[in-house]
Amino acid sequence: MEFFDVVARRHSVRTFRPDPVPEELIAQCIEAARLAPSWRNGQCWRFIVVRDRQTIDQLAAQRIYGYPINRWLRSAPAVVVACADPRESGQHGDLPYWAVDTAIALEHLVLAATALGLGTCWIGGFDEATVRRLLEVPEGIRVVAYTPLGYPAARESLMGQAVKTIARSHRRKPMEQIVFYERWGGQAELPAADATSGYPTRRAG
Ligand SMILES: Cc1cc2nc3c(=O)[nH]c(=O)nc-3n(C[C@H](O)[C@H](O)[C@H](O)COP(=O)(O)O)c2cc1C
Repeated sequence: MEFFDVVARRHSVRTFRPDPVPEELIAQCIEAARLAPSWRNGQCWRFIVVRDRQTIDQLAAQRIYGYPINRWLRSAPAVVVACADPRESGQHGDLPYWAVDTAIALEHLVLAATALGLGTCWIGGFDEATVRRLLEVPEGIRVVAYTPLGYPAARESLMGQAVKTIARSHRRKPMEQIVFYERWGGQAELPAADATSGYPTRRAG
């Protein structure tokens, strides 16, 4: 799949077919993460591939602000949990680069999964202490985010559709709102064929 098609096709998938993901595809996704850039090339990330049904159910059962917001995760045949060892990264001012490094690597994985026809969804809504306990994550290691990995179902479940509607997931801010030229707020004429024009799943607004 061509790079811009991959970027355009990636969207959050919250309903999966039960089919297991072949080991080779998981390995390809992790390889894409492994090649990501990082602070001083520290590669502080670690990935936990979870396929155990009971563990996935427990991840899905977590309540955030009292609600099981990621209950849909139960349909995923696999979940990849991205962790970081802050000692292998750095801090610039008040910016903790372990989170940046690991987020870049996870997005590499997400795009690779998309290119392979797999569905993903960034998950930040979790209780770190619960995930650490469930996955026996050692002291000093942080849990940054996780994603399901699986073949998208033919149709999103009602819950998946509801999350998309609530998050207004198809919306993207228009170019002039997010890009400035030469200084903060500096506007310029954008080229007629801006990069988003070919993205079928995204609307500016
Ligand atoms: C850091 C981060 C955390 C997120 N956490 C959740 C989450 O806990 N549950 C969920 O359903 N979606 C979560 N999302 C997915 C966003 O809702 C989604 O990316 C956004 O609505 C845009 O939709 P799209 O991914 O389909 O383009 C998260 C995304 C990011 C980047």
